[in-house]
Amino acid sequence: MTPTTERIAVARERLARLPRLEIACLPTPLEEHQRLAAELGLASLLVKREDLTGLAFGGNKVRELDFIMAAAVAAEADTFVAGGGGTQSNHARQCAAAARKVGLEPVIVLRRTAETRHASGNLLVTELLADDVRWVDIDAGLSDREATADAMDLVADELRAAGRTPYVLRSSFHPLAAAGYVDAGLELVEQLAARGVDDAQVVCSSMGATRVGLHLALAACGLNWPIHAMGWRPTDDGLSDRLVRLADETVELTGLEVPPYDRSAFTTFDHGGPAYGVPSAAGAAAAALAARTEGLLLDPVYTAKAFAGMIAEVGSGRIDRSRPIVFVHSGGLPVVFAQDGAGTEAG
Ligand SMILES: Cc1ncc(COP(=O)(O)O)c(C=O)c1O
Repeated sequence: MTPTTERIAVARERLARLPRLEIACLPTPLEEHQRLAAELGLASLLVKREDLTGLAFGGNKVRELDFIMAAAVAAEADTFVAGGGGTQSNHARQCAAAARKVGLEPVIVLRRTAETRHASGNLLVTELLADDVRWVDIDAGLSDREATADAMDLVADELRAAGRTPYVLRSSFHPLAAAGYVDAGLELVEQLAARGVDDAQVVCSSMGATRVGLHLALAACGLNWPIHAMGWRPTDDGLSDRLVRLADETVELTGLEVPPYDRSAFTTFDHGGPAYGVPSAAGAAAAALAARTEGLLLDPVYTAKAFAGMIAEVGSGRIDRSRPIVFVHSGGLPVVFAQDGAGTEAG
């Protein structure tokens, strides 16, 4: 056993102490994209296909919900209250599907926004899965997430009064969600080792559990590969400090052994475009390039902007083109069927 395989085994053993329900299709593929790499002047580009986690069009939350649904079932819940995003919430879709998969009744709380018109994309799928969708009338914008979470608590009170046992997931900024991405990170290190790749850097769209889990997985394997996380206005609200706290909670929950880290491990590039949920010109160009070069589809809200961010930062020299890049495709593809030229409020 190499030092890395020993460390992977220890981390896997820690993670195995947490119950999970195996609702995701795993492992997800790690694909080499040689033509895209050549087009972009990269030494190597691998794409970790987290859009292919299976359940109801997949995405990053399915792997996270593997652990979260186990906690809901252990709490003997009969109802799963979640949501919190806008009309095109990927999170809400995946939560509704995961609840159905394990036999819980989903109650989905969404923000009503100017874009709430007809059911298309994620909303269409969410309404197919959940017959109880509650709309909260507040202005669009990430700062309203707390208000939506409070609305979820009110819904839960109402359900309890009606004799039900709800499990409330106020947000995916949650250590069990990050545990899902510890799992993904260990899987990625194993897949890279199987290809003989012993040095890499990771690019992802994340301001939360995805990049925190990936960071902890790499750290637990003794690898200090850079993680270039792309986000939307990441400097607004002390995000790095919140990410450190999420990492601390995840270490406590999992018992992972990792070297010390601080907020410098959790910086985030801003490649969110004009506004959250509003497609950017650079994102549209990146999505067209990926689609037309290798048939790789990206969503306009998260992965296209992250891919555009990667291209921009390779250009600026902050991402090293000579070192293999792993782009984490975190899903979001139903939004492709909801674009009308206006905003596509996701979440
Ligand atoms: C497709 C997609 N990518 C990335 C993210 C960001 O994930 P997080 O910030 O929770 O790591 C989300 C969150 O909803 C998403 O739906």
